[in-house]
Amino acid sequence: MSAPTNIACVKYWGKRSIALNTPINSSVSVTLDQADLKAVTTVTVSKTFKKDRLWLNGVEEDVTKSKRFIACVTGVKNLATEKLDSSGEVLVDKSEWKDYGVHVSSMNTFPTAAGLASSAAGYAALVACLAEVFGAIETYPGELSTIARQGSGSACRSLYGGFVAWRMGSDNDTGADSLAEQVFDENHWPKLKAIILVVSDEKKDTSSTEGMSTSVSTSKLLGYRAKEVVEGRMRGIEKAYGEKDFESFGMITMQDSNQFHATCLDTYPPIFYMNDISKSIIKLIHTYNKWKGKIAAAYTFDAGPNAVIYHLEEEGEELLALMLMYFPDDKFLGSLVGSEYVNNEEEWRKA
Ligand code: DP6
Repeated sequence: MSAPTNIACVKYWGKRSIALNTPINSSVSVTLDQADLKAVTTVTVSKTFKKDRLWLNGVEEDVTKSKRFIACVTGVKNLATEKLDSSGEVLVDKSEWKDYGVHVSSMNTFPTAAGLASSAAGYAALVACLAEVFGAIETYPGELSTIARQGSGSACRSLYGGFVAWRMGSDNDTGADSLAEQVFDENHWPKLKAIILVVSDEKKDTSSTEGMSTSVSTSKLLGYRAKEVVEGRMRGIEKAYGEKDFESFGMITMQDSNQFHATCLDTYPPIFYMNDISKSIIKLIHTYNKWKGKIAAAYTFDAGPNAVIYHLEEEGEELLALMLMYFPDDKFLGSLVGSEYVNNEEEWRKA
């Protein structure tokens, strides 16, 4: 299976339960298409496998104590159904799946842990793959996303294409209502595009998990943001996306990225995800928008220095030319709003 990455326009930053991996605020993202950025994952299961194993980009990771990995495997196994052969005979009864070990191989087609949502794509691909193998069936819409959420919060949004909201939910016992839902599908706004500017492909030095934990315990601004700001932005950006109103969409996206990085600075000790190049990209986009007399491009930065610049199709060439002129040493990827995970088993078998 391969699963897409997603880039949040209203950011998730802060957990209200570490055990359940539930957030302190809702968030919303755009799923990017899978041409350049995706996680490709294969799962093999067998009764002869003594333990669950994971190879990430060809290197084995020890998952025997990984709470995240175990939560995904157990969560999907709980939704497993029996496996039938072509004549309808039961090959594996659903009660037997618990005795099956799982071997997972996963590759990212882009830098891992560089703030381009690699864990989102990775855990979404893992859950989608396990669900296929175990014939998992959701007991309510979005249940698989609650499992992916336990792998990595943002992964729940990568299970759907288009414009996707992660509703924070209110159930603090199980986290069952903290789930992702598609708000608009990938065909809703075909003119919306993104340029990804890879400023650095180095692994970030403060992981999102660690960073948000320090922010929750030290930043007052983060508490204010979660309580007073995010819900209004969620409503505003959903309306803007629905009406294909780029100016409002872009404004909220940029303001939310800025506020997220402000909470990082307000964290003690402060966290710096953006570097000088990131800051010059921000300046350039504001200068460009001033020159255009409208918001024609909108930047957003996750937990890293790499920029994602949303724009409409008509500005694509101009923006790319501008970026290439000012940032000739960096790598650019073009993207558009993408669809959910795909099963590429046939393709792999042929290859
Ligand atoms: C800045 O989903 O990577 O990209 O739940 O701890 O795995 P964990 O965090 P993660 O955090 C993503 C943070 C962000 C914003 C976002 O994607 O909403």
